[in-house]
Amino acid sequence: MCGIVGYIGERQAQPILLNCLQKLEYRGYDSCGIAVSQSNIQVYKDIIRIKEMEKALPKIEGMAGVGHTRWATHGGPSKANAHPHCDCTGKIAVVHNGVITNYHKLRQQLVSEGHNFSSQTDSEVIPHLVEKYFDGDLEKAIYLALRDVEGSYAIIILAAGEHRLIAARKDSPLIIGIGDRENFIASDVPAVLDYTSRVIYLEDGDTAVIAKDNIKVKSNGTGVDRKEHKILWSVEDAQKAGYEHFMLKEIHEQPKVIRDTLSEYISAGAPAANLMTPGDTLEDWLILACGTSYHAALIGKYIIEELVRIPVRVELASEFNYWGQTSAKTRAIVITQSGETADAIRAIKRLKEKGCQLITITNVVDSTASRLTDQVVYTRAGLEISVPATKSFMAQLIALYWLVLPYARIDNRRKDSLITELRQLPGKVQQVLDNEAVIAEYGRELSKYENAFFIGRGINFPLSLEGALKLKEISYIHAEGYAAGELKHGPFALLSGDTPVIAIAAQDNTYEAMLTNIKEVKARQSPVMALIVEGDDVGRDLADWAIAVPEVHPIFSPLINVVALQLLAYYTAKHRGCPIDFPRNLAKSVTVE
Ligand code: AGP
Ligand code: GLU
Repeated sequence: MCGIVGYIGERQAQPILLNCLQKLEYRGYDSCGIAVSQSNIQVYKDIIRIKEMEKALPKIEGMAGVGHTRWATHGGPSKANAHPHCDCTGKIAVVHNGVITNYHKLRQQLVSEGHNFSSQTDSEVIPHLVEKYFDGDLEKAIYLALRDVEGSYAIIILAAGEHRLIAARKDSPLIIGIGDRENFIASDVPAVLDYTSRVIYLEDGDTAVIAKDNIKVKSNGTGVDRKEHKILWSVEDAQKAGYEHFMLKEIHEQPKVIRDTLSEYISAGAPAANLMTPGDTLEDWLILACGTSYHAALIGKYIIEELVRIPVRVELASEFNYWGQTSAKTRAIVITQSGETADAIRAIKRLKEKGCQLITITNVVDSTASRLTDQVVYTRAGLEISVPATKSFMAQLIALYWLVLPYARIDNRRKDSLITELRQLPGKVQQVLDNEAVIAEYGRELSKYENAFFIGRGINFPLSLEGALKLKEISYIHAEGYAAGELKHGPFALLSGDTPVIAIAAQDNTYEAMLTNIKEVKARQSPVMALIVEGDDVGRDLADWAIAVPEVHPIFSPLINVVALQLLAYYTAKHRGCPIDFPRNLAKSVTVE
């Protein structure tokens, strides 16, 4: 969700904290702040972008500090609610990512004991609790404070006069970056990549005491050795490489993502993971995910049902966590790009409690999701910075095809020809990218509207959901994805010349029905933008605007169509002057429920 960072070393903390925070901007935020300590603690925070804060801030001396980008959960975005938060003495500053669920009770208790609160946040109870328990031993005070706290947190505590930072995590990610006579703490690796590629991943229940040349980690009070990891992502991965936005760069990286993900799987020479154990029957299949990953999950259902011919359940992780039924026989796949999404993590824990066999598909090595799961299928999308997921979705789909192909109930010749097609996909995706100028022009058209429908059928129905999600999250146009056949069961009432319909007309058994749907829509005056396969003159003639994509086997059509929809959303948002990489109110990694 938001980002937290900490620095302690021999350099001035202020510019380093601001640089680290900038690298976390992609996670989304509404306000930000830093605290730097020398003999006392100085705090600066506001509803401001990091770049503006950099200009507005006076020089603050100090070689230790913490920083925060906030994504408000308790109390609206305001200067008072921005982090860091301090205790009454101003000697303890805390940055917090997560939600303290019992904060109301704690706050009432602390107020009755004389503590004055200056924000509406749940987070502010933490510095006050530390103050309450402090008797000269900071570590003990933090331990006692966290014993009182329920909910999720990644926190960093800066205390005046202490030559160390103290960090703790429960259900929110936190890493330590190891430098040379300096150390870093952050909620995600990109924050520290400018300074180091050596990191330690903290685990739930860990507390870390970080000095400039010393790191001590305890797990529930007992000292533990946490492994050091070498990060392979480069600083360039976290840069735009000449593109105007990370989203555009990431869309353009998709041919490489397909190649990298496939070649990794092919060279492994083994199945991506085992969907079944010997003697097992593939009966009760469940795929769980959120957002764009959920759309990949829905496409996964079509892939499995088409190739393996068994029914598959797909559920939103956030719903499953309250209602979903499973048994020890359930075979589950959880898809999460970041590996940190709170709803997905909770689903994983629930599935494990029920004894289900579980595979996680994720893009982030050593993420919480991957550490919780025995069988992990990694995608090779590389670092995805832009909030709208693009290349990670592509990689998830490749992983699903690869996972499922060994179980396909089709003859080997057909299997081989599908694999050959998969290998040709980078070139076909590139052809869609080469058509960018046309799609950009259609984006200009679409940017004039305030409402739009996306329709698809079969394996492209989930893609209509994804096209609508992409458009709404970055262009702020109200968009809905629909199964094309459902439009007449209600949404027709909204069709008019002001409501364009983007129709995905794939060359599969749904094609004729889709043409009928397009005609129905046109009869209600809605302009139609059709995504057609090259050479489909009928579809082209019916539509007001047509985007032609290269022909592939229909089961792979989402991989091609999604690229056109991503570019369409991108250019629509660009023509509307939207921030694209960091849409309002959104965060890259949603670590709260
Ligand atoms: C989509 O563009 C994203 N903004 C969002 O919906 C995302 O897919 C969702 O939060 C799930 O994230 P995950 O894959 O990291 O779990
Ligand atoms: N719950 C805290 C708040 O609203 C932290 C939110 C965040 O993770 O940014 O301030």
